[in-house]
Amino acid sequence: MVVTPWEVKGRVDYERLIREFGTQPITEDLLSKITQYTDKLHLQLQRRIFFSHRDLDTVLELYEKGTKFVLYTGRGPSGPVHIGHLVPWMFTLHIQEKFKTRLYFQITDDEKFLIDTESTLEETNKYAYENALDLIALGFKPENTFIIYDTKDIKTLYDITLEVAKKITYSTARASFGFQDSTNIGWVFWPALQAAPCFIHKKLTGENVPALIPAAIDQDPYWRVTRDVATRLGYCKPAQIHCRFLPGLGQGGKMSASQPETSIFTQDTPEQVKRKVWNAFTGGKGTAAEQRKTGADPTVCSIFQYYFYLFEEDGTKLSERERKCRAGEILCGECKTALAERLNKFLKQHQENREKAKDKINEYSLTR
Ligand code: TYM
Repeated sequence: MVVTPWEVKGRVDYERLIREFGTQPITEDLLSKITQYTDKLHLQLQRRIFFSHRDLDTVLELYEKGTKFVLYTGRGPSGPVHIGHLVPWMFTLHIQEKFKTRLYFQITDDEKFLIDTESTLEETNKYAYENALDLIALGFKPENTFIIYDTKDIKTLYDITLEVAKKITYSTARASFGFQDSTNIGWVFWPALQAAPCFIHKKLTGENVPALIPAAIDQDPYWRVTRDVATRLGYCKPAQIHCRFLPGLGQGGKMSASQPETSIFTQDTPEQVKRKVWNAFTGGKGTAAEQRKTGADPTVCSIFQYYFYLFEEDGTKLSERERKCRAGEILCGECKTALAERLNKFLKQHQENREKAKDKINEYSLTR
């Protein structure tokens, strides 16, 4: 298993990540505290898709006493957005609405330029715009949402980035990110830029409040180094809430833009969706007759995961689908057809919202 901000490989063992990264599991106690503010637990918490955290308890205690927090998350614009990216963003929207907090959303066109040898700034700038439309399409409101485009907003970020960079030694950076002699020096410096938005709220408003970061667990190495320097620089430590990876449609592994045939992009056409879903890996048997007799295995089925993560909110219906699958009462074709329909319904609405977002994207700028 490899889990870094740039690479996720192998079967991800989330319990092991909690131990190795030194994060905390999300406990029942914490869930009931969250429910006090959100009425009902969000599906992603009910199903433990968000499964781990750092200092979420501290942030909630402060909130109880009247200290707000801000939300911070982001996107590296290396290409089009896939529905895995939407998982933490949908959750962020929910937390924003329930806790009435501000969101800073960083789009790291510089990161993707430095890391990918092939990419150009022109390309990452183009995807920065495209990816911002996907964020806005989810329903974030401009009053409370500030999109930071690194290359455009560097003036606002730069002094904080320098403060952070000065406190991180090369040996810490190498140990945290696995830098090699061949790593370009832009990349070596770059993690200080992902740290900067954790502290930007103080600069913009004078309020020194913690940032809570919802993201998949691959981003955690950034927060380890950021948390180490935060108090030394007079800021609150940023807190995190980590989610699991939405798998791809293949056999194991997360959804990843580098494998387009097993990823559903937000701009896919209905035909592309149907084809990808139809070719997906399932826990089915070689023949329909065999499957009806011995049942299938939903635990290895990529299609079942999509119902679990996003497309079956009703827990009873989800359990019933699982039972029928194990009993051989439904076949893979049925689950695939229904999933493709749900995906296409969701994407149709998302694509309409994306178009509308083009008229209002400037309202979300950091410097508006
Ligand atoms: P990026 O563009 O790789 O990913 C964007 C967000 O999506 C999450 N993610 C996933 N979540 C669920 N299932 C998946 N299959 C999946 N793949 C990716 C990532 O964890 C991330 O939350 N360096 C960052 C950009 C960034 C950022 C941040 C991310 C800047 N500041 C603050 C999170 C929080 C990046 O390249 O993300």
